[in-house]
This record gives sequence, structure tokens and C-alpha cells, in this order.
Amino acid sequence: MPYTVQGVVARGKGEPVSLETVHVPDPGPGEAVVNIQACGVCHTDLHYREGGINDEFPFLLGHEAAGIVEAVGEGVTDVAPGDYVILNWRAVCGQCRACRRGRPWYCFSTHNATQRMTLEDGTPLSPALGIGAFIEKTLVAAGQCTKVDPAAPATAAGLLGCGVMAGIGAAINTGGVTRGDSVAVIGVGGVGGAAVHGAHLAGATKIIAVDIDDRKLAWAKEFGATHTVNSRESDPVEAIRELTGGDGADVVIEAVGRPETYRQAFYARDLAGTVVLVGVPTPEMTIELPLLDVFGRGGSLKSSWYGDCLPSRDFPLLIDLYLQGRLNLDGFVSETIGLGDVEEAFAKMHRGEVLRSVVVL
Ligand SMILES: NC(=O)c1ccc[n+]([C@@H]2O[C@H](COP(=O)([O-])OP(=O)(O)OC[C@H]3O[C@@H](n4cnc5c(N)ncnc54)[C@H](O)[C@@H]3O)[C@@H](O)[C@H]2O)c1
Ligand SMILES: [Zn+2]
Ligand SMILES: [Zn+2]
Repeated sequence: MPYTVQGVVARGKGEPVSLETVHVPDPGPGEAVVNIQACGVCHTDLHYREGGINDEFPFLLGHEAAGIVEAVGEGVTDVAPGDYVILNWRAVCGQCRACRRGRPWYCFSTHNATQRMTLEDGTPLSPALGIGAFIEKTLVAAGQCTKVDPAAPATAAGLLGCGVMAGIGAAINTGGVTRGDSVAVIGVGGVGGAAVHGAHLAGATKIIAVDIDDRKLAWAKEFGATHTVNSRESDPVEAIRELTGGDGADVVIEAVGRPETYRQAFYARDLAGTVVLVGVPTPEMTIELPLLDVFGRGGSLKSSWYGDCLPSRDFPLLIDLYLQGRLNLDGFVSETIGLGDVEEAFAKMHRGEVLRSVVVL
């Protein structure tokens, strides 16, 4: 029996989201339907709403979620109805050139559901990041379901499905932060705050949080920042250099997604240091840098998609750390809201009042 449920849809560029009736087909071969329990509001959802990702409206928003598998299609053996899962947007294919070379976190051909969820009039929906989880039940590829310990509440666990994983992974997987490193994170919202926490977990000894909002900086301290810089008040490049003996940080993570903050990251790192871009820019953004500086400063300039995570490896591991009290996922949950409150959550995100609003179903 297909399902008829309520979901949060962005119908057009910049239009407020609306709660719509959505048809969810029964899972076909390789697919699963998941009962969503909680889904965080990520800045990427707002990017979709604003047309910053692509024009494939209408979007079914939400992609940072945990829930219980309701039904699986033919040939699905890794998950079964009743399993507690975090949804991921990296169901690796095992066959592309990255997977074959043993680097599946770069998989270039990740799986999503083959069938489409639709509006009542049959219009197919584009699920955000191939998930679409501001909805009672969603249809995904079975590989997008990663089983974790059900002792972790969905409000916390779901956050690993996107922003928090992206931030932790940007520090640990992409940036290679290790014991004794100095790290600066520019933009400490949900993703940047998680990068701070990831650097803390990895043993960085100096962790400098930069933001234009003092509330974010105060939260960053709770995640392990040793120093904070309000970049409205002081030049962040100078401040980071000053705090690192004049050198710059070993790893600088940009978690805003803007040319000016990328430039700050570029110049705030030590010689031979690493810049990690985890913030998502929009298509019109460009940056110009002296090529001699790119060459002369050495090191590496990397981007981090989803924290270079491998969900099957990283989600259960991070949930275990959470259950041991070593990973503060609850600290990211600023409020829990209903499905009808996503538009207001975007406004709160815009005003900087929250790290994560989490929709609870
Ligand atoms: N690469 C990935 O896989 C991935 C995954 C999830 C999100 N993202 C992206 O990461 C970015 C951050 O997402 P989020 O959910 O944390 O958003 P957010 O709104 O919670 O955080 C953004 C933070 O940047 C700060 N900021 C804005 N302008 C600034 C400036 N000029 N200097 C310093 N700080 C500034 C804001 O005050 C805020 O704290 C977005 O671009 C989002 O699309 C990337
Ligand atoms: Zn692959
Ligand atoms: Zn996201």
C-alpha cells in the first residue's frame, strides 16, 4: 500500500515552504521506506529553497534525519523493518572509479531511490540531497539507511546525517587534524561548531572559533574552542596569526561558504597548512588570489563534501562516542519543533538564534 503523508515542500525560488500532501510509493527493489522520528534544519535546506543548489522545484526538504525502517523492497538484506537508522546521502556504489580504488567516501555514483515521491496531482518531488525527511515517511535507497544503536535519541542521532558529520569530518577526515594541531574554524553555526568539536575530539591544542555572532562563539566554547574571535570587531586573519605566535593555524576550516571568508581562511593558515572549505558557495561566487601566494604558501586547499565520511564506518562510531558522553550531540539541538514550523526555523537560522532546530515527528 503506498503511503499518503504530510511533507514540507519548497514550490518555488524564495517562496515560503508549505506543508503538502505527498504520495510515497511502496519500496521497490533496493529501496526502503523509513518512518522519520526527527530531522534537523540545515542551512542547505534554505539554499534549496532559495534556488542556490539547482532549479528542480518542487523540493521535498529535510535531510538530517533518523527513524525506523517501515518497509523494504525486493533484494534488500542490509536493513529490515524495525531497524533504527540514520539516513545518509552517501550510499556508495562500490563500482565507480573512487570505490574501486578503495576510496568510497569520494563515491561518484551514490544511490538514491529510483521511484519518485509525488504531490497529490502527480508532480514528482526532488528530495533534498536525495533524502527529503521533513515528512512522516520517506522513500530512500536502502543503502541510505545506516543502522545505529537505538539508545541514542533521534533528535541527536539524526544530526549526524548531515551538518554535524560534515563538520566533524571536515576537521578529522578532510583536514586530518591531529594531536597538538592549531585549528581555526570560520563560521561556527551547526557545521562549524561541529568542526570545532571534531578538532577537540582529535586532540587539537588550540582551537580558534571565528564568527560574526557572539552567541555562536559562546556555543563554540562549549564544543571545545579555546579562543574566540568576533570578526565584526577584529580582523580575523590578524587575530588568528596573533593567537598562533604570528604563524597562522595548521588547519583552517571555512564553514560559511563565501569568498571573503575563504580568503580569510587562505591567509590565516600557517605555511604548508591546510584550508578546508566545507561551506557551500552559490553559483555566482568567484574568488581571485595571487597565484604566487597559492604556490608560495604551500600546503593544501581542500573541499569537504559531507566531511569525507563513510556512513557505515562513521555513524556507528560517533553514536558510540555520544553514548559514552564524549560527543556532545545534544549541544547542537537548540529547539525541537513541528513539521509546520520549518519556515520559522529558517528565519531563526537567518537571525542566528539557533544551531539546529530539529523537527520531531
Ligand atoms: N560540505 C558539506 O557537506 C556541507 C554539509 C552541510 C552544510 N554545509 C554548508 O555549510 C555551511 C554552514 O551550514 P550551517 O548549517 O552550519 O549554517 P549556519 O547558518 O548554522 O552557520 C553559518 C554560520 O556562519 C556565520 N557567518 C556568516 N557570515 C559570516 C562571516 N562573514 N564571517 C564569519 N562567520 C559568518 C553565521 O553567523 C553562522 O554562525 C552552509 O553553507 C551549508 O550549506 C556543507
Ligand atoms: Zn562509488
Ligand atoms: Zn545538510
